[in-house]
Amino acid sequence: MQFHAIKAGSARQRTACAIVGVHEGGVLSGSARQVDRASGGAIGRVLKRGDFSGKGTETFPIVGIRRGPAARILLVGLGPKSSFGRKPYRRAVFAATQWLAKGSADNATSWLAGDGVPGLDANYAARHAVESVNNALYRIPDLKTAKKPQRPKLSRFNIVVPDADLAAAERGVRDGIGISAGIASMKDLANLPANVCTPRYLAEAARDLAKTHKSVSVRVLEEREIKRLGMGSFLSVTRGSEEPARLIVLEYAGGPKGDAPVALVGKGITFDTGGISLKQPPGMDEMKFDMSGAASVFGAFKAIATIGAAINLVGIIPTCENMPSGRATRPGDIVTSMAGKTIEVLNTDAEGRLILCDGITFARRFKPRAVVDIATLTGACVIALGAFYCGLFSPDDGLAAAIAAAGERADDRAWRMPVADEYADLLKSNFADMANVAGREAGAITAACFLWRFTDGLRWAHLDIAGSAYLTGTHKGSTGRPVPLLVDWLLHGT
Ligand code: BES
Ligand code: MN
Ligand code: ZN
Repeated sequence: MQFHAIKAGSARQRTACAIVGVHEGGVLSGSARQVDRASGGAIGRVLKRGDFSGKGTETFPIVGIRRGPAARILLVGLGPKSSFGRKPYRRAVFAATQWLAKGSADNATSWLAGDGVPGLDANYAARHAVESVNNALYRIPDLKTAKKPQRPKLSRFNIVVPDADLAAAERGVRDGIGISAGIASMKDLANLPANVCTPRYLAEAARDLAKTHKSVSVRVLEEREIKRLGMGSFLSVTRGSEEPARLIVLEYAGGPKGDAPVALVGKGITFDTGGISLKQPPGMDEMKFDMSGAASVFGAFKAIATIGAAINLVGIIPTCENMPSGRATRPGDIVTSMAGKTIEVLNTDAEGRLILCDGITFARRFKPRAVVDIATLTGACVIALGAFYCGLFSPDDGLAAAIAAAGERADDRAWRMPVADEYADLLKSNFADMANVAGREAGAITAACFLWRFTDGLRWAHLDIAGSAYLTGTHKGSTGRPVPLLVDWLLHGT
């Protein structure tokens, strides 16, 4: 798929389909009127007849146009003009692409941002368009045996922006292409079943990434080496599994040598049965998505390497399965983390924090300017925030604000939740330095506070993506989040 930003003034060129936004009540923007005039009033006639109202995400194709540069015009509803902005704009691009994917147009020109989008500069208007098109065209690499439907014909997508904004829009196109590649690589990994996507498979995917991008290097540590590092907490999770664990370390060197990197630590549980604290059967298949944090680190690397950002980045991915067996860790077992703290494993289903604490400790080796861990950590976070915001935890106000702002701009939002001593105190154990779970209350916060205990002297934030990383039900599948948030934050300065 090719994307190009083009000027409204120079858009006389032919297109197989002009995408034109209509606000509720049949209101056209200035650039939309320009398309209407060039097409001999084809749009005006549809609106006058009352065939299209401009309700959000509704589409109305006008075909058989004889005059002007557009062979077809696709009208897309933008909703009320007063509430036009990022969301309705992204939805409109998505809906238009869904229509185009079913048809025979091999190129299209979007006029949806032709007069700008309130709240978005041209950079972001272009970036969001590229992301929305790619999201609408994404197909799960499924294992269905029936013949695959034809690939969409669409191969070129032009984004019209006000003339003065062309340079900014071109940067947005470039960033959008990188972010989309990152989103797709996260989705592909997370959507795979756990019998394919094992820790060793993830290690192989990391090697592939380093092969494709010269700026990325990878190191994969096996259990022997993980043991030598003293990661007793991480290793306690993999004990019940026949699949060997891996510690994957990615490095991207795009910034000045010696510049402190950002470290991203991703939870890579390729399947979470709960272990001896076994989960209930309903929905357990979704625990193949329990490596979404790891997949988002891959996605961020893919995006940053594609864009060629001038930053240094480290990715740390502890990855294993959480399985019950005769060798598995039992509730009440006490393990020793790499940091030396002892942990009483009261519930083997609270395994994410057990692998992440050792990942965070390992990150110290890189003297990072900031450490962000990303994890499908708690069902409690799903209860608290649902699918729309992920949970953002950090004792550092500046870091939390920067990440929340990136989420806002990227349309991949995060809501700050507290980390505080009162919650951390609930992790007290009579037998070890700390327990791995507290009670039922504030489960997302006590989980974050467990990790907090390992972050002395670090600028650290934690993203709980249990609700936002994948959808359930008929649209079951990875969302690619929080790749857009992470990349926006990394590009904006950390
Ligand atoms: N991977 C789960 C969290 C999860 C739950 C993600 C639902 C997505 C949807 C995690 O390992 C887990 O099992 N957490 C437990 C913690 C509890 C035992 C304190 C949970 O949330 O129930
Ligand atoms: Mn679990
Ligand atoms: Zn888990």
